[in-house]
Amino acid sequence: MGQVTVMDHPLIQHKLTIIRQTTTGTKDFREVVSEIAMLMAYEVTRDMPLEDIEIETPLVKSVQKTLSGKKVAIIPILRAGLGMVDGFLAMLPAAKVGHVGLYRDEETFEPHEYFVKLPADIKERQLFVVDPMLATGGSAIAAIEALEKRGAKPSNIKFVCLVAAPEGVKVLKEAYPDVEIVVAALDERLNENGYILPGLGDAGDRLFGTK
Ligand code: URA
Repeated sequence: MGQVTVMDHPLIQHKLTIIRQTTTGTKDFREVVSEIAMLMAYEVTRDMPLEDIEIETPLVKSVQKTLSGKKVAIIPILRAGLGMVDGFLAMLPAAKVGHVGLYRDEETFEPHEYFVKLPADIKERQLFVVDPMLATGGSAIAAIEALEKRGAKPSNIKFVCLVAAPEGVKVLKEAYPDVEIVVAALDERLNENGYILPGLGDAGDRLFGTK
């Protein structure tokens, strides 16, 4: 079964409390989401492989560590996932960025792709799919399906979100046991409208100042 990691670092928890509050306006919300994403990027890259290389310092030749292994791509799910991209890029400045856009059918409530643009070598990359909220799990699964259809391996995907509902985690784990799920907080439950409680409201609206 897929692994779920809750990043209960004090800085992350403190910053989450800030963005949960109604009194936090768009500017601060956006900045703090980006800060949390940066801290999460630091943690989710902890298992990246290293290799030895020989270098020359101004004084001597020396063998030191450098990142090896797969190159990285960050895949925000539109639109709220965009809020996490800058924080990830602060830690991984050379990463490629792919985009997955989904809309919800108003009758069936099923998510459908409307825009998918990915790096050509998606098959070879370590992918960080980012979306602030994992609620029902429908968009997460549709986004991963869109990647899989284009050759991505679920075992190369980490799904990184700020706030998750247990319902969404369960559904995503069942659909994709090989995808590692990393969350900043695992909240109580979904309400009847599919919002996470206590949550932070609509992440897209709060990031972009829309209603
Ligand atoms: N999407 C959001 O932006 N917020 C929720 O609480 C659930 C889904």
